[in-house]
Amino acid sequence: MKIETNKSLDQLNTFGIKAKAAEFISIESKAAAAVFFNENDLERKKFLILGGGSNLLLTKDVEGIVIQNNIKGIITVEEDDHHIVLEVGAGENWHQFVLYCVENNYAGLENLSLIPGNVGASPMQNIGAYGVEVKELITKVLALEIETGNLVEFNNSECDFDYRSSIFKTSHKGKYFITAVHFRLNKSPKFNIEYGAIKQQLEKDGVAENDLSIRAISDAVIAIRQSKLPDPKKIGNSGSFFKNPIITEEKFNQLKKRFKSMPAYKLPHGGYKLAAGWLIENAGWKGFREKDYGVHKNQALVLVNHGNATGEEIFNLSERILYSINKKFGVELEREVNVI
Ligand code: FAD
Ligand code: EPU
Repeated sequence: MKIETNKSLDQLNTFGIKAKAAEFISIESKAAAAVFFNENDLERKKFLILGGGSNLLLTKDVEGIVIQNNIKGIITVEEDDHHIVLEVGAGENWHQFVLYCVENNYAGLENLSLIPGNVGASPMQNIGAYGVEVKELITKVLALEIETGNLVEFNNSECDFDYRSSIFKTSHKGKYFITAVHFRLNKSPKFNIEYGAIKQQLEKDGVAENDLSIRAISDAVIAIRQSKLPDPKKIGNSGSFFKNPIITEEKFNQLKKRFKSMPAYKLPHGGYKLAAGWLIENAGWKGFREKDYGVHKNQALVLVNHGNATGEEIFNLSERILYSINKKFGVELEREVNVI
């Protein structure tokens, strides 16, 4: 295990922010992780665990050590005629893993195609898209407790998954190094095409109902995402910068009177989820640019780095947006991206 010093993180975060880590290590196996966490007292040292760097905003250099999780491997844990349970190394690329499932006809994750980042971060914020959240497929999260180096397992309910949230982002933040995730996938697919845009894309692709397959859904999701979201290789970003806010029915009724076209989704357990992208667009921010920081021209929920923006500039822009949405709508936005 080699510790590098003064390591550039420029290529390791999809925002393309220029920053350095005082120290950097790549961990490539569970055994190496156990040795590392046993030998290093990270309680007294600043550290950052890194996956694919696609949900981070680096506002400064990392004074301590960046620990990149590169633990690979896909193994079968259980299998019967209907299901398969796979243990997947945290360092596997998410989209490559989804494609592996599509190729093998293991259904469940196809709606989550083309989400950047690695498998280990997928439970962190319970990644979701196009009507599916990863919590529906996760049976277990395997992790090392950073303080002790002990291996711990969390079953699905212990993870306390919620919309863009889990214990790893709340009460257990910074306490565990996720090494692998178990997914229970279906051999006989239940297609999920309820999200309007998927049906339209399938029609456009000429996929008849009889020809529906997890590959067709994965292809449709890829096409929609490519048409809507900026490619981080071309323009720095971390996907949705804010979560879609959840408000009470009373607040929703007040807003709906003033903003008749405002999209909103009634939640099964009460309240409404609003589209933060709509709020930000309607507060006049869509396509905003100052120096190299701004708001994407096609998707107002995505803050962008046109080249040389600093993390601090993007953070300050997010503060201005928070303030303006609160002033115009009386709604408090919450950041989805992890600010370092
Ligand atoms: P990183 O950015 O490296 O890390 C994210 C957080 O998790 C950090 O706090 C980090 O410390 C922690 N972490 C990472 N790995 C581990 C580990 N092994 N153990 C413990 N902690 C860890 N997200 C969605 O939910 N849905 C989307 O549709 C979506 N679309 C996106 C589109 C674009 C263009 C981009 C750039 C991002 C999008 N995202 C989306 C956000 C992002 O891709 C996901 O949150 C992804 O899971 C982050 O993975 P990562 O490996 O890059 O995590
Ligand atoms: N909208 C606008 N203006 C905009 C953007 C969106 O009016 O600039 C409106 C759209 O017209 C639509 C609504 O907002 O009525 C929702 O937009 P969209 O379907 O694009 O989805 P989103 O709410 O902006 C969420 C997730 C995405 C996920 C997509 C698809 C969050 C915070 N974001 O975006 O996840 O890919 O749905 O399921 O929940 C991410 O988390 O990084 C991410 C990209």
